Amino acid sequence: MNVFRGLEGIRGKGVFRNEDAFNPEFLPEQVIGRGKEVRELAFNLKPVSEKRRPTSMVLYGPPGTGKTCCTRHVLKELTEYTQRAEPIYINCWRHSTRTAILSVILEKFDMINPRRGISSEEVLHRAVELIRKSGKTPIIVLDEADALIDGEESGVFYDLLRMGETEKLNVGVVAITNREDILSLLDRRIRSSLMQADVEFKRYTPGELKEILKDRAKAGLVPGSWDEEALGVCAAFAGKNGGDARIAITLLWLAGRRAEAGSGRITVKEVEESKNRVLQEIKEKREELLDEEDKALMEFIKKKGRATSGEIYAAFRGSERAWREHLGKLESMGLLESEYLREEGKKGRTRVFRAKL
Ligand SMILES: Nc1ncnc2c1ncn2[C@@H]1O[C@H](COP(=O)(O)OP(=O)(O)OP(=O)(O)O)[C@@H](O)[C@H]1O
Ligand SMILES: [Mg+2]
Repeated sequence: MNVFRGLEGIRGKGVFRNEDAFNPEFLPEQVIGRGKEVRELAFNLKPVSEKRRPTSMVLYGPPGTGKTCCTRHVLKELTEYTQRAEPIYINCWRHSTRTAILSVILEKFDMINPRRGISSEEVLHRAVELIRKSGKTPIIVLDEADALIDGEESGVFYDLLRMGETEKLNVGVVAITNREDILSLLDRRIRSSLMQADVEFKRYTPGELKEILKDRAKAGLVPGSWDEEALGVCAAFAGKNGGDARIAITLLWLAGRRAEAGSGRITVKEVEESKNRVLQEIKEKREELLDEEDKALMEFIKKKGRATSGEIYAAFRGSERAWREHLGKLESMGLLESEYLREEGKKGRTRVFRAKL
């Protein structure tokens, strides 16, 4: 018998009422416990509503501390408040080159699909022209900007600088990064013009995580289908693993899945049994952002166990620079780690890569 027919009549035990509430893209109705950060973001962006230049900023903090969530929340409220803002959200893992980023900006203002194969210069030029014509202020969010800051594509920061300074457009930039330490690598001009304010996101405490979970449970689960204690265990686990709300929410979701297939209720038992899956689950979600080149690189490195940059460039054709960019992206996504090798008598530095987890 068809496996699906065999399942007919067997219904899940109704734990989820809106499973989407556990998706990474889900934007909660309210942001819990980040009032200060949200107000700071809003304060910096508010000048847009008076046709003045917003304060560009950098948001930094460890994974799962609400940087993306707070930014999306503030942008949503900003567009409700004023029509003068044009928010452009760019995930730099998805769009990881200078041209790709400029194209996303252009597409926001260009009704006609931009022609393929035009240079970054042309894309920039056309974007500037159209932004000026629109009379709107773009708020450009560069999320997961780590690889840009650290890598070869940092040129895009100069493009944005040019938009603001040479072209005198009122652009606002919100750069989001996990790594405060790499900010010092940036040119002083970029720091002072595109990162005028820093907003730090600290790790959540177990208490804060529990409040986030309570709210998420209400949004996503059938009333009465969970034990309060189970949320506490999720919060404690995430608290120990970096104060990361993504871990807390994913753990609750996995426990929900387990409950649905079994007891019909999320208790401490379902949470305990799901703990060993959480980190893997998060990694798999992240891997959905990989393109073909990234995947080929990951496979190559996993197969070999470890691979030096030389071995990688020898195995993959095309420009070294492009592959270096992919490696930078994979590293900033936490999928690869690397260290420099010291080789006697050799000039230049070789890096050796390994898959993480
Ligand atoms: N204060 C909060 N209130 C409600 N939900 C939150 C809050 N903070 C984070 N979350 C949720 O936790 C998850 C992770 O948060 P978010 O994606 O904003 O983290 P991040 O700081 O951007 O992490 P990363 O550096 O890994 O990108 C998301 O599902 C988000 O909706
Ligand atoms: Mg984020």
